[in-house]
Amino acid sequence: MADAVAWFLAECLAEDPSLVLGLPTGRTPIPMYRALVKLHRQGRADLSRATTFNLDEFVGLPARHPGSYHAFMRKYLFKHVNLDPSRTHLPHGDAPSPVAEARRYDAEIAAAGGLDIAILGIGANGHIGFNEPDRSLPAGTNVVTLKAASRAGNAAAFGGEVSRVPTRAISMGVGTILSARHVLLIATGAGKASIIAQALQGPVTTRVPASLLQLHPRAAVVLDRAAAARLTE
Ligand code: F6R
Repeated sequence: MADAVAWFLAECLAEDPSLVLGLPTGRTPIPMYRALVKLHRQGRADLSRATTFNLDEFVGLPARHPGSYHAFMRKYLFKHVNLDPSRTHLPHGDAPSPVAEARRYDAEIAAAGGLDIAILGIGANGHIGFNEPDRSLPAGTNVVTLKAASRAGNAAAFGGEVSRVPTRAISMGVGTILSARHVLLIATGAGKASIIAQALQGPVTTRVPASLLQLHPRAAVVLDRAAAARLTE
């Protein structure tokens, strides 16, 4: 999965060096970022003119906080490649008004011309970004309250203590994600097999936010065998 996506991105960047990418954090993309860094070191991936927008950031955390997604991106991608720091974007978790920050972030994405490729992970509950299953889903970037499972999934970056994981995040909305020209969903491991089957082959429902990707005209999914295990022919 990691190599396939990294090669795909390198090829897209070769065709259009000024791509606008939507980027995820989490365990799934780490090998993909490593593969992309490797391609960059080999001179096969040039990010110098690319623009990036991350999907989300925890409310209340400054960029320097080690548990922040800013820190994650620095660690796994930004400090290893030739992205222009002025063209890497994440919501500011410590903005005085998270709601205003969410609006500002959408305006920033719009000013960049929208996302060319949104790369997404999927939560075990089907969330994309931090858009958790609900009766309705917000279109634009918004402030979300994290489900217990989502906080637990992030505890490692907070010394293993779930209670230290922030309770809210600023997340790109489902509308922003679906407006991307291409969407690429990535998932690995048996733990994602059931939700992948539901998202790709079940009904389109806000109760499984990733199922909305079925409506996207140019969505691709890259899985390892374990994550694909419950898909039917
Ligand atoms: C992260 C994000 C989340 C993750 C999802 C899967 O920026 O938006 O939707 O992609 O929680 O996380 P992992 O890859 O850790 O299973």
